[in-house]
Amino acid sequence: MAEGHRRLVAVSNRVGPLNDEGKAGGLAVGLSDALKRRGGLWFGWSGNTSSKGTFSEAATEIEGDVALTTIDMSEEELSGFYYGYANRSLWPLLHYRLDLAEFDRQSDRIYRSVNQRFAARLSQMLEDDDLVWIHDYHFFYMGSELRQCGFRGKIGFFLHIPFCPPEIFTALPASHDIVRAMLAYDVIGFQTDTDRRNFANFCVRELGGEKLPGHRIRVGDRVVVADTFPIGIDAPGYARFAVSPEAGEHEEMVRGMVGDRLQIIGVDRMDYSKGLVERFRGFERLLEEYPENRGNVQFLQVAPLSRSELDAYVELRRELEELAGHINGRFATLEWTPLQIMTRGFTRRALAGIYRAARVCLVTPLRDGMNLVAKEYVAAQDPDDPGVLILSRFAGARSELTEALVVNPYSTDDVARALQRALTMPLEERKRRWEQMREAVFHGTAAHWCDSFLDRLENADNEADGSAAE
Ligand code: ADP
Ligand code: G6P
Repeated sequence: MAEGHRRLVAVSNRVGPLNDEGKAGGLAVGLSDALKRRGGLWFGWSGNTSSKGTFSEAATEIEGDVALTTIDMSEEELSGFYYGYANRSLWPLLHYRLDLAEFDRQSDRIYRSVNQRFAARLSQMLEDDDLVWIHDYHFFYMGSELRQCGFRGKIGFFLHIPFCPPEIFTALPASHDIVRAMLAYDVIGFQTDTDRRNFANFCVRELGGEKLPGHRIRVGDRVVVADTFPIGIDAPGYARFAVSPEAGEHEEMVRGMVGDRLQIIGVDRMDYSKGLVERFRGFERLLEEYPENRGNVQFLQVAPLSRSELDAYVELRRELEELAGHINGRFATLEWTPLQIMTRGFTRRALAGIYRAARVCLVTPLRDGMNLVAKEYVAAQDPDDPGVLILSRFAGARSELTEALVVNPYSTDDVARALQRALTMPLEERKRRWEQMREAVFHGTAAHWCDSFLDRLENADNEADGSAAE
């Protein structure tokens, strides 16, 4: 543990890894970059199931200054908590996809009971002056459960994904219960100002709360800090990955594969929030409207499978494969296949090399928390010949990466035009835009995110009584 700090106890559904294995998910990447530096305990799900009543003891692995402690779930918990409430109700809803959200009493019950069981297990390991930091939509109730277990220390919460407007969130039968439970936290963090405002508006309109100066909210006699803390990556570390031998090999492989053509890259979990169908259509429109690109560009979409037991994800995969087949069938020649999808994972070093070989990166979610891929692409570029980032106006990273080409991902024409502009952008403009984005990525790092959140948490008492506000 870093000197002079209280112990940090981080809680999330997915835990680790802390090494360079590559892990498809921004939470794991951002949190491990932050924890490696600060040290502490990281608690969550083991990724395994065991039958109810025979849960194995918590298992702990030590890596450097971090202890990773995990417990199992039962099959019923996996299905009701993870596949059910977390990913069939909360995930679509918070990403503004009310059309995909499903609500049922059974999974609501299991979600609450998993929060309670994990809190009970964690509270046995807590010491009074620990700083507890709960992460993401799997554990909205964890703070209030820890209070029930008697923990009186500081508890913060960070939401890695968007918080939708109250008009949407109120469709969740337990929306009031969830937000009331969140008031047990001392500090609640969001990726963007929009998410923070949506949450504050819910508190005001639905719970009769009041916004106070210093991004604090009062509901009844509770005052909590609800503020914006944009997550980042370990930018210097990532830039070093990009010039490692492993990255170099991958960069060469991609360059060898594309030859003189320009490479377009997309890297996203196969998730409906990522706008992949719309992106493929935008690429198709590029080939239609700007035929000079036929035979001269190549689009590689890396899309590791995610939550593939859920119908919405199965359907997305089917649709993407069909669309890729259609685009390739329509434009391919004997020596050129325009679009390739790959579902495999890469190490972070390998991925950095793949980013560096690409002239254009498409990050076009329909709605996203931050999107670390956008920051990784920027950090991995060659300063003498940087590529161009095309970024959705609905990605959290948009407010920091202001020199990306910003698109409306729903507009096929907009995506095609931005692609054409990126592919023909002169070197001087590429460098100018990239330098601004590099500065933003190197400023808003994972370390900065972690330190600013934890500073706020440590000072939360002063803020609650107003003495540290403004
Ligand atoms: P999300 O958290 O929604 O998945 P982010 O863009 O914030 O989206 O984070 C995704 C993370 O997963 C990034 O760090 C990215 O490098 C990593 N990732 C995505 N695809 C792969 C892959 N095929 N192999 C290894 N890591 C991947
Ligand atoms: C996003 C979420 C994380 C989640 C990750 C991967 O980044 O914010 O909480 O871990 O996606 O999804 P999975 O369901 O595989 O954990």
